[in-house]
Amino acid sequence: MTRLLPSFAVLCTSVLSAMAQSQYLLGLGIADITGPVVETNMMGYASLGQTDTGLHMRQRARAWIIGEPDVEANRIVFINADIAMGDTGVRREILAQLAAKYGTLYTAQNFALSSTHQHSGVGGYLENLLPQITSLGFVNETFGAIAQGVVLAVDRAHESLAVGTLTIGNTSVTGGNINRSPTAYLFNPQAEQDMYVDQGGDQDKFMDLLSFGSRGFLSWFPVHGTSLYENNTLVSSDNKGMAAYLYESSVEPNAMPGNQTFVAGFAQANVGDTSPNTLGAFCESPGEPYDGMPCQANSSTCGGTVADCHGRGPGFTLDSLGFHSNEMIAQIQVDAAKKLMSSTLSPVTGSVRSVHVYLNMANHTFALPNGTQVQTCPAAMGFSFAGGTTDGPGAFDFVQGDNSTSQNPLWEIVKSFITPIPSAAQVACQAPKPILLNTGYATEPYPWSPNTVDIQLLKVGNLVMLIIPGELTTMAGRRLKAAVRAQLLATGVLDNSAHVVVSGPANTYGHYIATPEEYAVQRYEGASTLYGPHTLDAYIEKYSSLVPFLADTPTGTPVSDAAPPELTSSALSLQSPVVFDAPPIFQSFGHIVTDVVTSTPFQAGQTVFAVFVGANPRNNLRLEGTFLNVEQLVSGSWKAVRSDSHPSTLYQWAVQSTILGTSNVNISWTIESGTPAGTYRLRYFGDSKPLIGSISAFTATSSNFTVTA
Ligand SMILES: *[C@@H]1O[C@H](CO)[C@@H](O)[C@H](O)[C@H]1NC(C)=O
Ligand SMILES: *[C@@H]1O[C@H](CO)[C@@H](O)[C@H](O)[C@H]1NC(C)=O
Ligand SMILES: *[C@@H]1O[C@H](CO)[C@@H](O)[C@H](O)[C@H]1NC(C)=O
Ligand SMILES: *[C@@H]1O[C@H](CO)[C@@H](O)[C@H](O)[C@H]1NC(C)=O
Ligand SMILES: *[C@@H]1O[C@H](CO)[C@@H](O)[C@H](O)[C@H]1NC(C)=O
Ligand SMILES: *[C@@H]1O[C@H](CO)[C@@H](O)[C@H](O)[C@H]1NC(C)=O
Ligand SMILES: *[C@@H]1O[C@H](CO)[C@@H](O)[C@H](O)[C@H]1NC(C)=O
Ligand SMILES: *[C@@H]1O[C@H](CO)[C@@H](O)[C@H](O)[C@H]1NC(C)=O
Ligand SMILES: *[C@@H]1O[C@H](CO)[C@@H](O)[C@H](O)[C@H]1NC(C)=O
Ligand SMILES: *[C@@H]1O[C@H](CO)[C@@H](O)[C@H](O)[C@H]1NC(C)=O
Repeated sequence: MTRLLPSFAVLCTSVLSAMAQSQYLLGLGIADITGPVVETNMMGYASLGQTDTGLHMRQRARAWIIGEPDVEANRIVFINADIAMGDTGVRREILAQLAAKYGTLYTAQNFALSSTHQHSGVGGYLENLLPQITSLGFVNETFGAIAQGVVLAVDRAHESLAVGTLTIGNTSVTGGNINRSPTAYLFNPQAEQDMYVDQGGDQDKFMDLLSFGSRGFLSWFPVHGTSLYENNTLVSSDNKGMAAYLYESSVEPNAMPGNQTFVAGFAQANVGDTSPNTLGAFCESPGEPYDGMPCQANSSTCGGTVADCHGRGPGFTLDSLGFHSNEMIAQIQVDAAKKLMSSTLSPVTGSVRSVHVYLNMANHTFALPNGTQVQTCPAAMGFSFAGGTTDGPGAFDFVQGDNSTSQNPLWEIVKSFITPIPSAAQVACQAPKPILLNTGYATEPYPWSPNTVDIQLLKVGNLVMLIIPGELTTMAGRRLKAAVRAQLLATGVLDNSAHVVVSGPANTYGHYIATPEEYAVQRYEGASTLYGPHTLDAYIEKYSSLVPFLADTPTGTPVSDAAPPELTSSALSLQSPVVFDAPPIFQSFGHIVTDVVTSTPFQAGQTVFAVFVGANPRNNLRLEGTFLNVEQLVSGSWKAVRSDSHPSTLYQWAVQSTILGTSNVNISWTIESGTPAGTYRLRYFGDSKPLIGSISAFTATSSNFTVTA
């Protein structure tokens, strides 16, 4: 009987809701947000050595607008950007540009900047100091590319607004993630762990998906964007951007990447303790007896240090930078989304609402459910933060021993401000965290970490998206979702059909959010939980308290703390500009240094390669464009069939002489199976900067080559 009940209930619910299915105004759009692909630190691993040298795939922003057809004010816009995290400064800039275009249509209340949390994109765009240390400060070009691209994605979504319906569902996902701090998870109460045995245990192993029918979808699945390792220096979108590319290009195979009309959304969920390195973590310690053995479990060390302990993705044996693993983890997410898109999902019904407040977490006093008053603390990083994770030992160089010999010029400027010695009150508040960086008190030359974060909830019918300013661990996400869902039911805002998802890191980067039990263990996620042991409970209390503002007829306005101060305009920026480009003597830009092989035809699986005299790609980001094409001769004329954003093509740039201003560009295309036989050529699009005068574009073309079936 109990086995029959659920399906009967599901049947009744879907019949009833189908009758009441709501119409929504829907808009979807994609745009390019790729910053400078060379000479710029990459964002995610916080590794000074990870400076980009070219392009694998462009980073994109995807926008979904959902509104009520007859009330313009009841509308939300959700952005899923191929970046490591949302940021207050970028969001502020985007909102200013949207206000100039759309007035009060898209605002701080209804606009969410969520990230895929990828680790192979261009860095330097965050406005706080700590995440700028490895990028040598703020990089205006990255910031500008993200802001401009997100606004363009919103423009495209806005232009495509049309009435339609939405459906929602979930499915299990196997092999897509693993817990990278399983020993910390085990400190959560056993009874609570037991509740989730069928949902993946120490990971959430299911995908939630909101279908826009033939126009696209938005899905959530928790897995870190760390499939590409820290030693990859080609700008890319990691597994979620790859999943979006694979899905979109399967729907419209002939469109260039980013030019499809179908928009596939692979958003991030409770990502904190997830990893795509599903084989586990092993010691890379040549010459040591433990080389190739699993790392020591509770500390993730090899021979007592963290540096050698690395997670392995499913394609570990296939290449050493993670490209195969990246595609495999992407494909698992694509398969889950395809399964859902070809199933009958539940209709989404009801109003569109949003609520947003700022919350100053530096000293937020609130009551736990049992009435005990507690408070959060100004931000601080624990010692384990410096150790990094098995996905990448992301150490800031200054924690590695002798700080007098730092190779980082930004650190040389800011180290005199190194975070003040924590007061007894801060030590007590953050306990048991041993404080390494007392960032909440570090405000010189400008704040190192945010103390004020964005709290935002978006409601689309019976779906509520919690937009999170950080990385919730698996159990932290479950607690938050369960508490908000209970509140939605208790207040009558939604009935038992309520779906709650978490999305982030979004809007502001408040680092990690572990449960108090995980916090007590102080692995990386606990050490990176900024505002003390009650960080999660503060969020649970705040998000729950905002639920009444999602009602069909909300009363009053929520109480908000002050918006955080604007920091971008005063940011330090030490990245040197491009000085000039020059070709070697007697050559010109685009001169072929190494031509493609023309003597023998190519076959699928082989790589075509050419080297050109180049110029610095920072001269022109070529947003919405390309640094290269593969062209095919079709009926006597050349047709572009691949761009720099196809994963089969690589663009690499290397300085030949800094003094002479010379550089080379390597272009390669690894021919996909199924590529039509024919005549092809490679093209390179560059932009050179003379010592005096303005930047000018040039093109170069390889010899013709043939591909046989
Ligand atoms: C930053 O880039 C924007 C364009 O995105 C430009 O208008 C502005 O002048 C730049 N600011 C600085 C300080 O270079
Ligand atoms: C998946 O969807 C079903 C049907 O709506 C629901 O009962 C179930 O709780 C969902 N599972 C998860 C893990 O959210
Ligand atoms: C993008 O698609 C539009 C319309 O489908 C087409 O006109 C345009 O040429 C395409 N752009 C590229 C770069 O393929
Ligand atoms: C880790 O586990 C080892 C062996 O089980 C134990 O000796 C050690 O104390 C543990 N370390 C921590 C930090 O828990
Ligand atoms: C890149 O890093 C991974 C993970 O640490 C390692 O296994 C691999 O050998 C490295 N590859 C290269 C080319 O250094
Ligand atoms: C935190 O706030 C409480 C009450 O508002 C106040 O008594 C206390 O001094 C504050 N602590 C700090 C560190 O600001
Ligand atoms: C309330 O709950 C907290 C956290 O579980 C606990 O530390 C505290 O002792 C509880 N207070 C009371 C009065 O039970
Ligand atoms: C930096 O070096 C100084 C002088 O050697 C030392 O007193 C200080 O503790 C060091 N700070 C860090 C964060 O290592
Ligand atoms: C470009 O190709 C040349 C010639 O094969 C090679 O020596 C060089 O390392 C390549 N440069 C990059 C940045 O891959
Ligand atoms: C490449 O093919 C085109 C079209 O057939 C032809 O016009 C051109 O001369 C060829 N280029 C070379 C270098 O052979």
